[in-house]
Amino acid sequence: MAEKIRTLKSEEIVDKRICELGACISRDYEGKQVHLICVLKGGVFFMCELAKRITVPVTMDFMSVSSYGDDTKSSGVVKIVKDLDEPLEGRDVLIVEDIIDSGRTLSYLIEMLHKRNPASIRLCTLLDKPERRVREVKVDYVGFNIPDEFVVGYGLDYAQKYRNLPYIGVVEEAE
Ligand code: IMP
Ligand code: MG
Repeated sequence: MAEKIRTLKSEEIVDKRICELGACISRDYEGKQVHLICVLKGGVFFMCELAKRITVPVTMDFMSVSSYGDDTKSSGVVKIVKDLDEPLEGRDVLIVEDIIDSGRTLSYLIEMLHKRNPASIRLCTLLDKPERRVREVKVDYVGFNIPDEFVVGYGLDYAQKYRNLPYIGVVEEAE
């Protein structure tokens, strides 16, 4: 069945918000170097755009995780499919995510990365669905709070499709 995509946040609105986040992060990390960690694959479009808007020195690394079990049964344990290339010891880490939903992935990931002794860890997400939260996660930078709807674009997929849309849209089943 084909889907229809309804625009939720236009390209212009998303770009403007990323500029604001970049300015805010640049202020907060003044005099420091920020180590961006992208959670693949969804976070990659957002991280690239965000990195271009940060004026303090930036380094980047990438990791890929998958959840064990389905959504209802998930123990919150995530499997590392691709680990970071570099150690985090002494670095100011900023995790960059596409969306926080239940919070399971990020609460586990943050706890795990803390054990690698970074100087600090903060979290930046393009989208947040606070109503869906089952695990508490401290989110330091949020692009947009959105309602509980399934969204695609800007890295987010529906069955691996639509990641390349330059805006955020809601998936609606066509009649
Ligand atoms: P959490 O552990 O439930 O917070 O899972 C977050 C992950 O679920 C995100 O990184 C996305 O990969 C995926 N996800 C959650 N909501 C959506 C959505 O609306 N569209 C696409 N992917 C989503
Ligand atoms: Mg993600």
